[in-house]
Amino acid sequence: MDATGFSPVRVVSDVRRLEEGAGARFSVAVEGVQRDAFVVRYRGGLYAYLNTCRHELLPLDFGDARFFDDAYDALVCCHHGARYRPETGECLDGPCAGGRLTPLALEERALELWCVGVKRPPSD
Ligand code: FES
Repeated sequence: MDATGFSPVRVVSDVRRLEEGAGARFSVAVEGVQRDAFVVRYRGGLYAYLNTCRHELLPLDFGDARFFDDAYDALVCCHHGARYRPETGECLDGPCAGGRLTPLALEERALELWCVGVKRPPSD
């Protein structure tokens, strides 16, 4: 546990299994509260966020770890269609335009992928 109360969590045991366009769900304790989270691989990069839409605080997916829209250019919330930029979590379109998903920090340790904290979102 670090100074913010965050305990690192192993997300996947072999990061190579997280293929382009794939997602994985996991949970993390943030300030003592267990929260759903997810990671996706997008254009080679790995991006993780709390799985909480900025509209009605629902998970983005239906529990199936499918997060991308058909055009494969945004993460999409299955409830009312909010679209988020995969690299930043910025809401591009939808009922929470201007909002942003909460980004999580990732770290690769050998082949394992770990979530090691909450990232400070980029300033606007
Ligand atoms: S809960 Fe995600 S768009 Fe409404």
